Amino acid sequence: MAVTFNEEDKLFILHTNHTTYQIKIGPFQTLLHLYYGKKVDCNLDYLMQTMDRSHCGNPNEAGTDRTFSMDTQLQEYSTFGMGDYRISCLEVLNKDGSCAADLRYKSHNIKISKYQLEHLPSVYAGDSVTTQTLIITCIDSVTNLEVDLYYGVVEEYDVITRAVKIRNMGMKPIELIKAFSTCLEFPSTHFDLIHFYGKHAMEREFERTPVGHAKLSVESMRGLSSHQHNPFVILADQAATETSGECYGVSFLYSGNFQAQVEVDQIGQTRFAMGIHPAFFRYEVKPGEEFVTPEAAMSYSSEGLQKLSHNFHKLIRNNVCSGKFKDIRRPVLINNWEATYFDFNTEKLVQIAKAAGQLGIEMLVMDDGWFGTRKDDYSGLGDWVVNTKKLGTTLKELTDQVNAAGLKFGIWFEPEMVNEDSDLYRKHPDWCLQIPGRPVTRCRYQLVLDLTRGDVRNYIYDSISAILTSARVEYIKWDFNRSIAEVWSALKEKTHQGQVFHDYILGLYEILDRLTTDFPEVLFEGCSSGGGRFDTGMLSFMPQIWCSDNTDAIDRLKIQYGTSFGYPISAVGSHVSAVPNHQTGRTTPLSTRGVVAMAGTFGYELDINRLTEAEKEEIKEQVKIYKRNYDLINTGDYYRLTNPYETIGYTAWQFVSSDKTRSLLSVVYHQSHGNPDFHTLLLRGLKEGSIYRVTGTVQNNNGTVQNDNETVQNNKGAVQNDNETAQNNKEPIQNDKTAIQEYNGAALMNAGFVLPTPWGDYQSFQYELTMCLE
Ligand code: DGJ
Repeated sequence: MAVTFNEEDKLFILHTNHTTYQIKIGPFQTLLHLYYGKKVDCNLDYLMQTMDRSHCGNPNEAGTDRTFSMDTQLQEYSTFGMGDYRISCLEVLNKDGSCAADLRYKSHNIKISKYQLEHLPSVYAGDSVTTQTLIITCIDSVTNLEVDLYYGVVEEYDVITRAVKIRNMGMKPIELIKAFSTCLEFPSTHFDLIHFYGKHAMEREFERTPVGHAKLSVESMRGLSSHQHNPFVILADQAATETSGECYGVSFLYSGNFQAQVEVDQIGQTRFAMGIHPAFFRYEVKPGEEFVTPEAAMSYSSEGLQKLSHNFHKLIRNNVCSGKFKDIRRPVLINNWEATYFDFNTEKLVQIAKAAGQLGIEMLVMDDGWFGTRKDDYSGLGDWVVNTKKLGTTLKELTDQVNAAGLKFGIWFEPEMVNEDSDLYRKHPDWCLQIPGRPVTRCRYQLVLDLTRGDVRNYIYDSISAILTSARVEYIKWDFNRSIAEVWSALKEKTHQGQVFHDYILGLYEILDRLTTDFPEVLFEGCSSGGGRFDTGMLSFMPQIWCSDNTDAIDRLKIQYGTSFGYPISAVGSHVSAVPNHQTGRTTPLSTRGVVAMAGTFGYELDINRLTEAEKEEIKEQVKIYKRNYDLINTGDYYRLTNPYETIGYTAWQFVSSDKTRSLLSVVYHQSHGNPDFHTLLLRGLKEGSIYRVTGTVQNNNGTVQNDNETVQNNKGAVQNDNETAQNNKEPIQNDKTAIQEYNGAALMNAGFVLPTPWGDYQSFQYELTMCLE
């Protein structure tokens, strides 16, 4: 059993394959945290310590005993107002004006299989994993407020989820002003907080900050999870690396405001907590009603960050993402945004589709600009009626022509927005979030629709389903291009405006749930000016999200590196675009753009008709490589072999199939230098005693990169077969003959793989490894 209750010791024990979590019902029925970490098969309540400390209050029942204080105990769910001054999870405003909640254990329930949350995304139980649920109910006996602490255990992925239901069993309404989802307590201080900050076009940069006595907070108050901070964070032992050391990851399954806080308390204990951001959060819970927090999924690894990422990759891929596209191969797409921006019609799109089809590309996505009066970003949002005048055809005629070229057809929407210059706004000015008497804040000339309203949600649903039923549309890119500013809904009482931020997200999830249920054949891709809403909440409705508007291959190394810590590669929308790159002006080789985009859901975003025949041939080859390695990339284990922030000059990553028989190695050099260093790269995840055949891309003698599936450089540790051609790796590789190189798995992982020397900036190398002798 993954979850057990030891009646005698009043102890809850949660086990995953490699971890243990222990909770104790302590003095006066308080709920105390004992341990979360590497698997331990015994009772750990000896860890609980008490001491008489000045200025740390004691529960009333303690009488004259001053040794037990809620200000120093490790707790499961901390509350404000009863003498604990550290980060609180729950802050309750009672009808009498007091702000206090005192939670004590009341009962518990252990269930087979993992719980599901209504109206909110949650990890689901699947056939391939063993799951269980523990619900601990606590009560504040003064107000009769009941709090159910939910724990979901996913044994195979070492994941424990948490969510909280807060039920008003009293006679008077209460207001929640803070209701977090999870709390982690540690008896010591030795952590770094790893978090992923950023901005538009540079999302999820890696930052590692020591945790100390000053409170750290990673948060969004923008109404979306945001470009600026991501709701996935890691607490890592200060010595933890990719391959060693303890670390805890927490992923919040929510797409709106969030806050993750961590602090070291006065006696050196560490408290971490995460949930909906309390800024302008005031949620009334009337007698008999309940409030449910979003879910947080936590995992622990004693083998460093790489293992932690693998846990989250598997969890999100298999037990968060849903629908048919989570498992089948998704189409290689071409999107017209960077090819045409707003300047397109059916003829142009069909030309792109025809050229793309010849290269193996499988779907054309028509981006922004096909509806209403939309010819730039000043107008049209909200009017989801096809602009046949601009297109020159109906949508049906367009999709028929694209289908005739052999491609599927996808379309862009930004359903949550409205331009003031739109029929929708003229008809329903009160449908957007705005504060009466206050001028609105514009962002990209657009306002945010009020998704807390049922009529607005129905309008969005009806508009989208009308398009989906009018033509063969097999994909939707769901965009969201601004933050929310004026948080005020015309239909809510003034006393309930503090619910708008959260109700907005519930409204969004309701629409997504209806659409994905009613149109299961349509593939959805999330987007928010690139990766502004890249979170596990959105991934539960759509298996992929456009990772960033920055398509520059070199910037993408950092963006995709940061994203990979908490999210699977199968979720990362990534396209090859034109050079000079539209965001950076940088010119990188087409081969490098391909190698980088292949670390994601691969596609193109350029006008194929403007390419040379040689470039088209190269694209044809890239598409073949991607399709051939689709399973490896999308379901294999992903290894970050280097860190793009370090100065070694190149970034490398590797995919390995679960049976270890296949691997794909990608290496991108940042810049080339005279008299370059040699580089030997240690691979990971292979089978020690096995022999791997390596084929891949090499650089030829005139500095251009060519692809030859049977050409590799020489390596002294390698086993050479009959066809081999020896190479000299001190010079740019001169090789126009074929060679097949075979290596011992142990050699590749312990002695390393010798990298070729790049000739020119931003060169890349890609190798396919196949086990040929076990
Ligand atoms: C922002 C997205 O990130 C882009 O890919 C593109 O769809 C534009 N919006 C269109 O307005």
